[in-house]
Amino acid sequence: MKISLFTKTIEELRTQALVIPIYQDSLNDLHEYDKVSEGHIKEAIKDNEFSGKQKQICIIRLKGDIKKIILLGLGKKEEFNLNKAREAIANASVYVRDNNIKEFSLKVFNDTPIYDAAYCCVEAVKLALYQFTNYKTQELNDLKKIEQFTLIGDANNFIEIDTAVKEAIIITNAVNYVRDLQNKPSNIVTPTFLANEAIKLSEKYNIKWTILEKKDMQKLGMGGILAVNRGSDHPPKFIILEYNGGKETICFVGKGVTFDSGGISIKPSQDMDEMKYDMSGGATVLGIMQVASNLKLPYKIIGLIPTTENLPGSSAYKPGDVVRFYNKKTAEIINTDAEGRVILADALAYSRNFNPNILIDFATLTGACVVSLGDLYTGMFTNNDELAQMLQDAGDKTGETVWRMPLNDHYKEYIKSDIADIKNCGPREAGAITAAIFLKEFIECKKWAHLDIAGTAWAKKTNNLINPNGGTGVGVRLAIELLKNLKK
Ligand code: BES
Ligand code: MN
Ligand code: ZN
Repeated sequence: MKISLFTKTIEELRTQALVIPIYQDSLNDLHEYDKVSEGHIKEAIKDNEFSGKQKQICIIRLKGDIKKIILLGLGKKEEFNLNKAREAIANASVYVRDNNIKEFSLKVFNDTPIYDAAYCCVEAVKLALYQFTNYKTQELNDLKKIEQFTLIGDANNFIEIDTAVKEAIIITNAVNYVRDLQNKPSNIVTPTFLANEAIKLSEKYNIKWTILEKKDMQKLGMGGILAVNRGSDHPPKFIILEYNGGKETICFVGKGVTFDSGGISIKPSQDMDEMKYDMSGGATVLGIMQVASNLKLPYKIIGLIPTTENLPGSSAYKPGDVVRFYNKKTAEIINTDAEGRVILADALAYSRNFNPNILIDFATLTGACVVSLGDLYTGMFTNNDELAQMLQDAGDKTGETVWRMPLNDHYKEYIKSDIADIKNCGPREAGAITAAIFLKEFIECKKWAHLDIAGTAWAKKTNNLINPNGGTGVGVRLAIELLKNLKK
């Protein structure tokens, strides 16, 4: 989809469809379109065809250079927020596409700062219109697709709008890149594939890369990732990316299990296909790194992605095994399906080599988190109140909301082992918390947050319109918003 910015007058616009977002309580603003709409907008409102209710759509067919005007309701101004705008714009974008229109325009809605409004428009369009069609070979001609999108803004705000458009494109491209990785199946996205993606991306964005191979991990004593990898024929990889834009160091760690069968503690077959998205955290880190470099953020940003499959091959690690991690701690494996924390333990411990000021991990870690929070909130566990607040604010602004969960030492009891330092799995109760408590054993950083994205990384029959079914790319927008606000 090509994206352009138009700042001339409405009379000069030629388009198949012009979408005009408008608040319920400012329908009068539509008078500026009386001329181009040949009075039809006025009539539609008089006949109660359009009231401006949130997400409402009203089509007005015209004879001139603008073939259709689509009025789009934003609801009441006092109840308005960027999330509502995203949802409304997503609704209109999908409507236009599904009606076989190939080109459309959207007027920036009236809100300040204008940067945020323009950014939000492009973001919503790009995220809502995402489609994963790599493996479709039939009826490609029937595929509905927007080829050209034009944002209509005021020439007086050209610089703000133009910057917003450019940044929104960079970030949503990264989100959609993450979604592609999530949606691709595990026979394509192997640990080697992920490592090659990381290298490609690093070469493109001028990021330093290192891939630790199995023998390197053996030397370093990364017994966790090696244990999980034993049941798989694909070698494990430990991806290290370093973007050097400043002094303060922020480290992102992402779980990269390219398929999680559960291993010897095998999962039920129902929905097991979805476990291809167990590398979502890793993909998110790849997305963050590319944006960080592209926007030249003024920090040193480290990305760590331990990646392997979790399969029950004949050498697979087994319940009862004891593994020793990079920081020399030991854990008794109670359940081989609690593999995420086992590979993250090595990665989180390894992060100390970069001495980060902030350490954040993304992981599709527990079904228990999905049970607690569903698909709206990412579970947040952190040892730092300030970081909690910053992540919460970034979540509220981007719509990638987080909900803080407890990290009380009380729960350490749940993962006490008789024979090792800890065990990798407690009772059913508090499953998302005990996973976080396990990770905490490997943390030295004073500002650490663990984000359990098991519920938010994948959309199913979603009613969140900016997330088509499948991978959501969650975390990229959250992390970039956090980074933008760090030094304010
Ligand atoms: N990858 C899963 C968690 C998951 C579940 C992600 C559902 C997305 C949707 C993780 O490795 C896992 O299997 N966790 C177990 C832990 C349990 C054995 C302690 C779980 O949540 O059931
Ligand atoms: Mn598992
Ligand atoms: Zn898993």
